[in-house]
Amino acid sequence: MKGKCIVIGVTGSIAAYKACDIVSFLKKQGADVNVIMTRNALNFINPITFETLSGNKCLVDTFDRNFQFNVEHVSLAKRADLFVVAPASADFIAKAAAGIADDMLTTTFLASTCRKIVYPAMNTRMYDNPITQDNIKRLEHYGIDVEETDSGYLACGDTGRGKLAPVEDIEERIMLLAARDHDLDGKRVLISAGPTQEDIDPVRFITNHSTGRMGYALARAAALRGADVTLVSGPVSLKPPMGVRIINVRSAEQMFDEMTERSDQADIVIMTAAVADMRPEKCADEKIHKVTMPDSIRLASNPDILSYIGEHRKEGQIIVGFSMETEDLIENSRSKLERKHCDLIVANSLREKGAGFGCDTNVVTLITREETKELPIMGKDQVADRIFTFILDM
Ligand code: CTP
Repeated sequence: MKGKCIVIGVTGSIAAYKACDIVSFLKKQGADVNVIMTRNALNFINPITFETLSGNKCLVDTFDRNFQFNVEHVSLAKRADLFVVAPASADFIAKAAAGIADDMLTTTFLASTCRKIVYPAMNTRMYDNPITQDNIKRLEHYGIDVEETDSGYLACGDTGRGKLAPVEDIEERIMLLAARDHDLDGKRVLISAGPTQEDIDPVRFITNHSTGRMGYALARAAALRGADVTLVSGPVSLKPPMGVRIINVRSAEQMFDEMTERSDQADIVIMTAAVADMRPEKCADEKIHKVTMPDSIRLASNPDILSYIGEHRKEGQIIVGFSMETEDLIENSRSKLERKHCDLIVANSLREKGAGFGCDTNVVTLITREETKELPIMGKDQVADRIFTFILDM
C-alpha cells in the first residue's frame, strides 16, 4: 500500500468505532490514510483516535481556521487513490446522491474522481426505506459502489439489514482495489489447491496432509495484482480469497475435469494440489467390494492433471507445477519439469524446517529450464507474490 492515498469518510453511526480498525490496518499496510469525519460522527468518536492511528490530521470542518482549509478538500480529492465511506449513514447517502456539498466530507467526496465505495450502516427501517434505496441506486448510477450491509442484531435492538459489512471484508476489498500495481490485469489465472479425497466406501476415504494454504495464497496474490482468478479447490477449511471464483471438488477425477475444462482459457495455470496418485478401484459388485476391504484395496491410477495440461498447452500459456521432495530436490524437480511439460516447478524440500504442509511459511526453489533460484524462508503470502513476480519476468 506504500504510496497509496486512501481517504476514509466516517459518518454519524454507532459503527463509527469500527473505522478505527480499518484505519489502523491500512496504516500498517503502508498506506497514506486520511480520515474525514462528519460533525455527527464526533458524537461517537474523537478525531484524536483517527489522528493517532493514521498519523495524519483528521478533517472535520471545511472552515477549520487552524488548517489550510482553503483548498484542502480539493487537494485531498486530487491525491486520493480510493475513497471509502464506512460507515455511511442514511443522511450521508442522501446528500451524496443529491450532490450536496455542505461539509468537509461531502465536499471532498463530490470533488474526487477516484474509485469510491460506500458501506452503509443504519437502522433496518431507515435502510429498507424506499427513499434510502432510491438514493443508493442513484449513487450506483453515478458509478459509486454501494456495498451490501450485513444482517443481524443492530445496536437499536432491531434485527435485520443495516449492519456495517464485516471489517475484514472492507479491508480485503480496499486491498484488492488499491494494494498493488495491477500488473496481472487482463490475465486469467487458474489454480488448483488442497488435497483430494478418494472414496474407499461411503464412509472411508484416502487423502493427504495438504491444507491448501499455498494455493489459496497464490489465488489471493493474483487477485491483488488484478488477475481474473479461478481456484479449483479440494476440501479445505480456508475462507476463499475475495474476488476469486471458487470451484469445489473432492476427487482427483473431479479436479481433472474442472481443471482441463478451464485450462484452455487460462494464461497461467498453477497446480499446487496434492493430488492422490491412486484411488480405490470401483467394483461393480458392491458386496465383493466391501468384503475385500480393507485387507486388499485394489488401486487404480488417477489421471496426471499437470501432465495433461502441459501436453495440451495453448500458445503463450505458462504452466507451473509444485514438487514436494524428501531427497534430491533439484534433480527430481527438474525431471518433473520435463515429464510434466511445465515452464516452472516450485520445489519444496519436505526435510527443510518451515517448508511444506501445515505451516504458514515455505522454503522454495524456483526451477525453469534456464534457471534455479532458491528463495529464503518466508510467509506463504510472500512466497506467492514472489512466484508471480518471477512468472512476469520469465
Ligand atoms: N499432479 C497432478 N496430478 C496428479 C499428481 C500430481 O497434476 N495425479 C501435480 C501436482 O499438483 C504437482 C505436480 O504434479 O504440481 C507434482 O506432484 P507430485 O505429487 O510431487 O508428483 P507426482 O506426479 O506424484 O510424482 P512422484 O510420484 O514422483 O512424487
